[in-house]
Amino acid sequence: MADLIHLNYLLISVINRFGINLGFGDKSVQEVCQEHDVNLDFFLEIVNSFHDEDYLPEEHLQDFSVGLITDYLSKTHRYYLDVKIPELEKLIIMMVVECYANNKHATLLESFFREYKNELIAHTKREDEKVFPYSIATELAFLGKDNSLIESTAPGGYSIQEYSSEHDDIESKLYDLKNIIIKYLLPTGNQSLCSKVLTELFNLEKDLNDHSRIEEKVLIPKVLLMEKKLKTMK
Ligand SMILES: [Fe+2]
Ligand SMILES: [Fe+2]
Repeated sequence: MADLIHLNYLLISVINRFGINLGFGDKSVQEVCQEHDVNLDFFLEIVNSFHDEDYLPEEHLQDFSVGLITDYLSKTHRYYLDVKIPELEKLIIMMVVECYANNKHATLLESFFREYKNELIAHTKREDEKVFPYSIATELAFLGKDNSLIESTAPGGYSIQEYSSEHDDIESKLYDLKNIIIKYLLPTGNQSLCSKVLTELFNLEKDLNDHSRIEEKVLIPKVLLMEKKLKTMK
């Protein structure tokens, strides 16, 4: 497991989402997963898709249950909202004070970031409260276990197609935010703080890209297929 972190330190936050913390000594990935009651195959698929952008998660992750996939996606939301966003917010406030003290445009950065945070909260809330419960209910109906949950999770009807067409790109705004810092604001103070904020923004963008890829290439097609089969079973 330690080799995995040496290979890509950004995986630290991914393993945390599985409830695995540092300090695993020389234990193998399999041993650590067993200890934490984590599905080893699923863990490896998530790690591979995060580490290698050319890896096609749809080919392998499709085999896992909707429950397992949405549980990981929800934990990732918590990581963004409880850890990453508060960290970045503090850094940005500090950066405005220390790097752009005399720049009247710098406060725009703070409001831009706040707006972004609110969008991210709304985006993840809709997924956690509507899309994921509906997806789990669809799987339960598909497996013949319980048909009633679909109506209670999505009163009046819903389709994963709706989510697919509304699913907005939460990464592109981060790109704009990075660009404001890179292109338009000349720092006058602490340069290393500006670099740190930028590095954090790049890392978050990468993480969000991986996250959206799983939603769009794994969750949506999987639920879509079940919806189609359920229709033909009626
Ligand atoms: Fe999400
Ligand atoms: Fe999303």
